[in-house]
Amino acid sequence: MILLLGAAGTGKTRTSRMFPPESVLRADDLRALCAGDPGSQQANSAVWDVLESALTIRLRLGLKTVVDATNSAAAHRARLVAAGRTHGAPVVALLLGPGLSVAQQRNAVRPARRRVPADIVAEQYAQVVAAHPHLDKEGFDHIVFAESLPVLGTALERLAAEEEKNQATADVRRVFGDAAADLFDWDGPGGGPYRTGAFAAAGESLAVRWVDDGDPFDHRFEARVSCPTEWCPGPAWTPVRSMADLAAAHRNTPHDETECERCDT
Ligand SMILES: Nc1ncnc2c1ncn2[C@@H]1O[C@H](COP(=O)(O)OP(=O)(O)OP(=O)(O)O)[C@@H](O)[C@H]1O
Ligand SMILES: [Mg+2]
Repeated sequence: MILLLGAAGTGKTRTSRMFPPESVLRADDLRALCAGDPGSQQANSAVWDVLESALTIRLRLGLKTVVDATNSAAAHRARLVAAGRTHGAPVVALLLGPGLSVAQQRNAVRPARRRVPADIVAEQYAQVVAAHPHLDKEGFDHIVFAESLPVLGTALERLAAEEEKNQATADVRRVFGDAAADLFDWDGPGGGPYRTGAFAAAGESLAVRWVDDGDPFDHRFEARVSCPTEWCPGPAWTPVRSMADLAAAHRNTPHDETECERCDT
Protein backbone atom coordinates (compact mmCIF):
# COMPACT_ATOMS: atom_id res chain seq x y z
CA MET A 1 0.00 0.00 0.00
CA ILE A 2 1.40 3.32 -1.06
CA LEU A 3 0.09 6.51 0.53
CA LEU A 4 1.00 9.72 -1.27
CA LEU A 5 1.67 12.44 1.24
CA GLY A 6 1.74 16.14 0.42
CA ALA A 7 -0.24 19.38 0.55
CA ALA A 8 -2.50 20.42 -2.35
CA GLY A 9 -0.41 21.40 -5.35
CA THR A 10 2.71 19.43 -4.42
CA GLY A 11 2.22 17.10 -7.40
CA LYS A 12 0.62 13.95 -5.97
CA THR A 13 -1.71 13.35 -8.89
CA ARG A 14 1.05 13.85 -11.46
CA THR A 15 3.29 11.48 -9.51
CA SER A 16 0.48 8.89 -9.35
CA ARG A 17 0.64 8.64 -13.17
CA MET A 18 3.65 6.35 -12.74
CA PHE A 19 1.25 3.66 -11.50
CA PRO A 20 -1.42 1.86 -13.57
CA PRO A 21 -4.59 3.98 -13.23
CA GLU A 22 -6.65 1.05 -11.94
CA SER A 23 -4.35 0.77 -8.92
CA VAL A 24 -4.87 4.38 -7.81
CA LEU A 25 -7.64 5.37 -5.40
CA ARG A 26 -7.91 9.13 -5.85
CA ALA A 27 -9.89 11.16 -3.33
CA ASP A 28 -10.75 13.79 -5.98
CA ASP A 29 -12.19 11.13 -8.32
CA LEU A 30 -14.31 9.75 -5.48
CA ARG A 31 -15.52 13.30 -4.68
CA ALA A 32 -16.57 13.62 -8.31
CA LEU A 33 -18.27 10.23 -8.12
CA CYS A 34 -20.08 10.86 -4.82
CA ALA A 35 -20.70 14.63 -4.94
CA GLY A 36 -20.51 15.51 -8.64
CA ASP A 37 -17.39 17.66 -8.38
CA PRO A 38 -13.72 16.72 -7.66
CA GLY A 39 -13.35 19.84 -5.49
CA SER A 40 -16.53 19.30 -3.46
CA GLN A 41 -16.10 19.16 0.30
CA GLN A 42 -19.78 18.29 0.81
CA ALA A 43 -19.54 14.53 1.11
CA ASN A 44 -16.15 14.17 2.77
CA SER A 45 -17.02 11.47 5.26
CA ALA A 46 -18.78 9.40 2.56
CA VAL A 47 -15.75 9.85 0.29
CA TRP A 48 -13.47 8.51 3.02
CA ASP A 49 -15.81 5.58 3.65
CA VAL A 50 -15.77 4.67 -0.07
CA LEU A 51 -12.00 5.07 -0.24
CA GLU A 52 -11.47 2.90 2.82
CA SER A 53 -13.89 0.22 1.55
CA ALA A 54 -12.21 0.04 -1.83
CA LEU A 55 -8.77 -0.01 -0.21
CA THR A 56 -9.76 -2.83 2.13
CA ILE A 57 -11.17 -4.95 -0.71
CA ARG A 58 -8.03 -4.44 -2.80
CA LEU A 59 -5.73 -5.26 0.13
CA ARG A 60 -7.72 -8.40 0.86
CA LEU A 61 -7.14 -9.45 -2.76
CA GLY A 62 -3.44 -8.68 -2.42
CA LEU A 63 -3.52 -5.89 -5.04
CA LYS A 64 -0.98 -3.10 -5.01
CA THR A 65 -2.87 0.08 -4.16
CA VAL A 66 -1.89 3.75 -4.26
CA VAL A 67 -3.90 6.36 -2.36
CA ASP A 68 -3.79 9.76 -4.05
CA ALA A 69 -5.03 12.04 -1.28
CA THR A 70 -3.34 14.72 0.81
CA ASN A 71 -3.09 12.25 3.72
CA SER A 72 -1.98 15.16 5.91
CA ALA A 73 -4.42 14.43 8.74
CA ALA A 74 -2.92 11.96 11.25
CA ALA A 75 -6.32 10.39 11.99
CA HIS A 76 -6.94 9.56 8.31
CA ARG A 77 -3.45 8.16 7.91
CA ALA A 78 -3.86 6.00 11.02
CA ARG A 79 -6.99 4.32 9.60
CA LEU A 80 -5.38 3.61 6.23
CA VAL A 81 -2.15 2.34 7.79
CA ALA A 82 -4.16 0.08 10.12
CA ALA A 83 -5.97 -1.37 7.08
CA GLY A 84 -2.63 -2.04 5.39
CA ARG A 85 -1.13 -3.69 8.45
CA THR A 86 -4.22 -5.82 9.07
CA HIS A 87 -3.82 -7.28 5.59
CA GLY A 88 -0.07 -7.75 5.88
CA ALA A 89 0.73 -5.25 3.11
CA PRO A 90 4.03 -3.38 3.10
CA VAL A 91 3.03 0.21 3.87
CA VAL A 92 4.87 2.96 1.99
CA ALA A 93 4.74 6.73 2.50
CA LEU A 94 5.52 8.45 -0.82
CA LEU A 95 6.29 12.05 0.12
CA LEU A 96 6.20 14.99 -2.26
CA GLY A 97 9.19 17.28 -1.92
CA PRO A 98 8.24 20.75 -3.26
CA GLY A 99 8.29 23.55 -0.70
CA LEU A 100 5.24 25.47 0.47
CA SER A 101 5.85 28.39 -1.91
CA VAL A 102 5.84 26.07 -4.94
CA ALA A 103 2.60 24.41 -3.79
CA GLN A 104 1.02 27.84 -3.20
CA GLN A 105 2.13 29.12 -6.61
CA ARG A 106 0.78 26.07 -8.46
CA ASN A 107 -2.41 26.25 -6.50
CA ALA A 108 -2.88 29.95 -7.25
CA VAL A 109 -2.93 29.41 -11.03
CA ARG A 110 -5.50 26.61 -10.93
CA PRO A 111 -9.08 27.22 -12.06
CA ALA A 112 -11.15 28.68 -9.19
CA ARG A 113 -13.13 25.53 -8.46
CA ARG A 114 -9.94 23.43 -8.18
CA ARG A 115 -8.12 26.00 -6.01
CA VAL A 116 -7.57 25.18 -2.35
CA PRO A 117 -7.52 28.25 -0.03
CA ALA A 118 -3.93 29.32 0.78
CA ASP A 119 -4.39 28.93 4.55
CA ILE A 120 -5.54 25.32 4.08
CA VAL A 121 -2.53 24.54 1.86
CA ALA A 122 -0.27 26.01 4.56
CA GLU A 123 -1.97 23.92 7.24
CA GLN A 124 -1.67 20.70 5.19
CA TYR A 125 1.96 21.49 4.51
CA ALA A 126 2.74 22.07 8.19
CA GLN A 127 0.99 18.81 9.11
CA VAL A 128 3.08 16.81 6.65
CA VAL A 129 6.34 18.46 7.79
CA ALA A 130 5.45 17.71 11.43
CA ALA A 131 4.53 14.09 10.62
CA HIS A 132 7.60 13.27 8.52
CA PRO A 133 10.07 12.40 11.34
CA HIS A 134 7.54 10.08 13.03
CA LEU A 135 6.13 8.17 10.06
CA ASP A 136 7.98 4.98 10.99
CA LYS A 137 6.32 5.05 14.42
CA GLU A 138 2.95 5.45 12.69
CA GLY A 139 3.54 2.04 11.07
CA PHE A 140 5.05 2.91 7.68
CA ASP A 141 7.59 0.33 6.50
CA HIS A 142 9.19 2.61 3.90
CA ILE A 143 9.41 6.39 3.69
CA VAL A 144 10.37 7.56 0.20
CA PHE A 145 10.58 10.97 -1.49
CA ALA A 146 9.03 11.00 -4.96
CA GLU A 147 11.98 13.09 -6.17
CA SER A 148 14.29 10.09 -5.55
CA LEU A 149 12.31 7.91 -7.99
CA PRO A 150 12.25 7.87 -11.82
CA VAL A 151 8.64 9.08 -11.79
CA LEU A 152 8.45 10.73 -15.20
CA GLY A 153 10.34 7.93 -16.98
CA THR A 154 8.11 5.28 -15.43
CA ALA A 155 4.99 7.22 -16.38
CA LEU A 156 6.19 7.68 -19.97
CA GLU A 157 7.10 3.98 -20.33
CA ARG A 158 3.69 2.96 -19.03
CA LEU A 159 1.91 5.35 -21.40
CA ALA A 160 4.06 4.17 -24.31
CA ALA A 161 3.00 0.56 -23.65
CA GLU A 162 -0.65 1.68 -23.55
CA GLU A 163 -0.20 3.62 -26.76
CA GLU A 164 1.02 0.46 -28.46
CA LYS A 165 -2.11 -1.36 -27.29
CA ASN A 166 -4.23 1.50 -28.65
CA GLN A 167 -2.43 1.62 -32.00
CA ALA A 168 -5.43 0.30 -33.94
CA THR A 169 -7.48 3.34 -33.00
CA ALA A 170 -4.53 5.79 -32.78
CA ASP A 171 -5.87 8.00 -35.58
CA VAL A 172 -9.30 8.19 -33.96
CA ARG A 173 -7.74 9.04 -30.58
CA ARG A 174 -5.48 11.71 -32.08
CA VAL A 175 -8.29 13.48 -33.94
CA PHE A 176 -11.25 12.97 -31.60
CA GLY A 177 -9.80 11.95 -28.20
CA ASP A 178 -9.81 8.80 -26.07
CA ALA A 179 -13.46 8.96 -25.03
CA ALA A 180 -14.57 9.06 -28.68
CA ALA A 181 -12.41 6.01 -29.45
CA ASP A 182 -14.55 4.02 -26.98
CA LEU A 183 -17.49 4.55 -29.38
CA PHE A 184 -15.55 3.48 -32.47
CA ASP A 185 -14.70 0.30 -34.41
CA TRP A 186 -13.05 -0.22 -37.77
CA ASP A 187 -14.94 -2.40 -40.24
CA GLY A 188 -13.31 -5.58 -41.41
CA PRO A 189 -11.25 -5.41 -44.60
CA GLY A 190 -13.54 -3.81 -47.20
CA GLY A 191 -13.45 -3.44 -50.96
CA GLY A 192 -13.23 0.35 -51.35
CA PRO A 193 -10.12 2.49 -51.62
CA TYR A 194 -10.50 3.84 -48.08
CA ARG A 195 -10.59 2.19 -44.68
CA THR A 196 -14.05 2.50 -43.12
CA GLY A 197 -15.41 2.30 -39.61
CA ALA A 198 -18.25 3.61 -37.49
CA PHE A 199 -19.07 5.39 -34.28
CA ALA A 200 -21.96 3.44 -32.82
CA ALA A 201 -23.98 3.14 -29.62
CA ALA A 202 -27.36 1.56 -28.90
CA GLY A 203 -29.41 1.84 -32.09
CA GLU A 204 -27.46 4.60 -33.85
CA SER A 205 -24.30 4.70 -35.90
CA LEU A 206 -22.29 7.16 -37.95
CA ALA A 207 -20.11 5.73 -40.71
CA VAL A 208 -16.70 7.32 -41.30
CA ARG A 209 -13.78 6.68 -43.63
CA TRP A 210 -10.08 7.51 -43.39
CA VAL A 211 -9.09 9.37 -46.56
CA ASP A 212 -5.37 9.12 -47.20
CA ASP A 213 -4.20 9.71 -50.76
CA GLY A 214 -0.55 9.88 -49.74
CA ASP A 215 -0.48 13.66 -49.17
CA PRO A 216 0.80 14.03 -45.56
CA PHE A 217 -0.90 17.45 -45.28
CA ASP A 218 -4.27 16.18 -46.38
CA HIS A 219 -5.33 12.97 -44.76
CA ARG A 220 -8.56 13.18 -42.88
CA PHE A 221 -11.62 11.46 -41.56
CA GLU A 222 -14.85 11.91 -43.47
CA ALA A 223 -18.31 11.11 -42.15
CA ARG A 224 -21.16 9.75 -44.21
CA VAL A 225 -24.06 12.19 -44.62
CA SER A 226 -27.00 12.66 -47.01
CA CYS A 227 -26.40 14.10 -50.45
CA PRO A 228 -27.00 17.89 -50.34
CA THR A 229 -29.45 17.58 -53.27
CA GLU A 230 -33.08 16.64 -52.71
CA TRP A 231 -33.16 13.99 -55.39
CA CYS A 232 -29.96 11.90 -55.07
CA PRO A 233 -29.91 9.09 -52.50
CA GLY A 234 -26.14 9.57 -51.96
CA PRO A 235 -24.08 8.66 -50.00
CA ALA A 236 -22.10 11.87 -49.54
CA TRP A 237 -19.04 12.41 -47.36
CA THR A 238 -17.99 15.43 -45.31
CA PRO A 239 -14.60 16.07 -43.65
CA VAL A 240 -14.66 15.71 -39.85
CA ARG A 241 -11.74 17.16 -37.90
CA SER A 242 -13.20 17.53 -34.42
CA MET A 243 -15.93 16.26 -32.13
CA ALA A 244 -18.03 19.26 -33.13
CA ASP A 245 -17.73 18.21 -36.81
CA LEU A 246 -18.74 14.64 -35.88
CA ALA A 247 -21.75 15.82 -33.90
CA ALA A 248 -22.79 18.08 -36.80
CA ALA A 249 -22.38 15.25 -39.31
CA HIS A 250 -24.53 13.02 -37.09
CA ARG A 251 -27.23 15.77 -37.10
CA ASN A 252 -26.75 15.85 -40.89
CA THR A 253 -25.78 19.54 -40.69
CA PRO A 254 -22.13 19.24 -41.75
CA HIS A 255 -19.85 22.25 -41.14
CA ASP A 256 -17.61 21.63 -44.09
CA GLU A 257 -18.06 21.04 -47.81
CA THR A 258 -19.85 17.78 -48.58
CA GLU A 259 -19.25 15.72 -51.70
CA CYS A 260 -21.65 13.16 -53.03
CA GLU A 261 -20.15 9.88 -54.15
CA ARG A 262 -23.01 9.18 -56.57
CA CYS A 263 -23.92 12.48 -58.31
CA ASP A 264 -20.67 14.42 -57.70
CA THR A 265 -22.55 17.40 -56.16
N1 LIG B 1 7.07 18.20 -11.37
C1 LIG B 1 6.28 19.19 -11.78
N2 LIG B 1 6.79 20.16 -12.55
C2 LIG B 1 6.02 21.18 -12.95
N3 LIG B 1 4.72 21.33 -12.61
C3 LIG B 1 4.17 20.40 -11.85
C4 LIG B 1 4.91 19.28 -11.38
N4 LIG B 1 4.08 18.53 -10.64
C5 LIG B 1 2.90 19.15 -10.64
N5 LIG B 1 2.94 20.28 -11.36
C6 LIG B 1 1.86 21.29 -11.54
O1 LIG B 1 1.28 21.51 -10.29
C7 LIG B 1 -0.13 21.35 -10.36
C8 LIG B 1 -0.57 20.50 -9.17
O2 LIG B 1 -0.12 19.17 -9.38
P1 LIG B 1 -1.03 17.97 -8.92
O3 LIG B 1 -2.41 18.16 -9.44
O4 LIG B 1 -0.33 16.72 -9.24
O5 LIG B 1 -1.02 18.25 -7.35
P2 LIG B 1 -1.78 17.48 -6.20
O6 LIG B 1 -0.79 17.28 -5.12
O7 LIG B 1 -2.44 16.29 -6.75
O8 LIG B 1 -2.84 18.54 -5.73
P3 LIG B 1 -4.27 18.24 -5.02
O9 LIG B 1 -3.97 17.76 -3.65
O10 LIG B 1 -4.96 19.58 -4.99
O11 LIG B 1 -4.98 17.22 -5.87
C9 LIG B 1 -0.45 20.67 -11.65
O12 LIG B 1 -1.56 21.27 -12.24
C10 LIG B 1 0.77 20.90 -12.49
O13 LIG B 1 0.53 22.02 -13.33
MG1 LIG C 1 -4.40 15.74 -6.92
